[in-house]
Amino acid sequence: MFIKFRRVKKLKFLQLVLMCCVMSVLMVYWEHVDDHVVSHVKSYSYRYLVNSYDFINKSLSISPQQAARFGSYPYLLNNEDICKDNDVLLLLFVKTSPGNFRRRQDIRSTWGNESYISHKLGVVIKVVFAMGVYSDVNSDSLRRKELHKELHKEHMNHGDLVQQNFHDTFHNLTVKLLLQFRWTHDNCAHAHFLMSADDDVFIHMPNLVRYLQDLRSQNVRNLWVGHVHRGAPPVRRRDSKYYMPFDMYQWSSYPDYTAGAGYVVSGDVAAKIYQATLSLNASIYIDDVFMGICAIVAGVSPQGHVYFSGEGKTLYHPCIYEKMITSHGHEEDIRNLWKVATAPQVEAISSGLFGKLYCTAVKMKLLCKPYFTNTYPCMAAFI
Ligand SMILES: *[C@@H]1O[C@H](CO)[C@@H](O)[C@H](O)[C@H]1NC(C)=O
Ligand SMILES: *[C@@H]1O[C@H](CO)[C@@H](O)[C@H](O)[C@H]1NC(C)=O
Ligand SMILES: *[C@@H]1O[C@H](CO)[C@@H](O)[C@H](O)[C@H]1NC(C)=O
Ligand SMILES: *[C@@H]1O[C@H](CO)[C@@H](O)[C@H](O)[C@H]1NC(C)=O
Repeated sequence: MFIKFRRVKKLKFLQLVLMCCVMSVLMVYWEHVDDHVVSHVKSYSYRYLVNSYDFINKSLSISPQQAARFGSYPYLLNNEDICKDNDVLLLLFVKTSPGNFRRRQDIRSTWGNESYISHKLGVVIKVVFAMGVYSDVNSDSLRRKELHKELHKEHMNHGDLVQQNFHDTFHNLTVKLLLQFRWTHDNCAHAHFLMSADDDVFIHMPNLVRYLQDLRSQNVRNLWVGHVHRGAPPVRRRDSKYYMPFDMYQWSSYPDYTAGAGYVVSGDVAAKIYQATLSLNASIYIDDVFMGICAIVAGVSPQGHVYFSGEGKTLYHPCIYEKMITSHGHEEDIRNLWKVATAPQVEAISSGLFGKLYCTAVKMKLLCKPYFTNTYPCMAAFI
């Protein structure tokens, strides 16, 4: 009896100690837990409200005169005729900055090579580079002049730049988004699809074109596809690049949106988004979030595709190349990746039953990890 009693006491004591341990760990990491877990849970519940009702719509609506101030910077470089007289499958905006000459050149000679696409795949795509003006306050005027000259030369040689007179900064990305939709409305409204991508993104153009041709043959409308963020909470830490002040956005969840690294909308959606921008306060400088707000007003919701990446980078394997669409973070290896990802062996590798099984096994091994790998999700192995 006595022994039993002591044992119970000991168990209780252990429980207490354990509890204390957990509590102190929680207390030490509370801020962390609060930031990441609690705010995600909160915002995910909130997400439903944000996506279903029109209070965002109401609170961010402004008059057309006020809205025009956000998106009416004059063009410094333009090529209005890019889309003239063409059955354009895809108009692709690359968000770039004046100084990124090399990235643009890499894109032109790889996935953005319009003539390659037209010869190989028999469709017209148009690649346009969107930018503001060089804004490094520390640069001297000589460097600015040089850059200006170089940019002008590029403009004459390639005819694919569109530049407006706003400072090309992170906090002006929404202005760049407005540029894209306005330019499309004015000059390329007949394009079947519109895409927006960063200049360090790799796009497997043959795979993308096949996917879009398929959608077009089904006459798909109301399409907005990419890597979807659902119920993302606004970052309230002031030291973050993505800091969002309360008075700019007061709710605890953003509407659903696709990562700005690369997404596609159908032509009808592009037109609707443009209309939405005409009466919205565009001071929210995270451009992908602003797109989500426009979409609520336009009545469009995003859909996910496992082979559109957000921040994620592709894994280097032919079985992945065979399916991938976008991959993020390619500053150095675009040319090499283009070569290997479009090689004839890639298509052959998964042909036949054996090839399919082999590739599924490889992709499961590469993508289905118990920890976060920042590439395509495990689901992608089975597609
Ligand atoms: C684009 O592709 C074509 C062949 O399809 C090739 O002749 C041309 O050199 C390529 N352009 C660039 C800039 O690499
Ligand atoms: C955005 O561009 C405008 C026009 O050049 C400029 O006045 C403003 O300071 C820029 N905003 C940011 C946050 O860089
Ligand atoms: C747009 O939003 C910003 C930030 O929330 C605010 O300061 C500004 O007054 C708003 N503009 C208009 C025209 O309502
Ligand atoms: C959003 O608000 C505007 C004006 O307040 C209204 O015309 C429009 O129909 C609303 N859209 C939605 C989807 O609620």
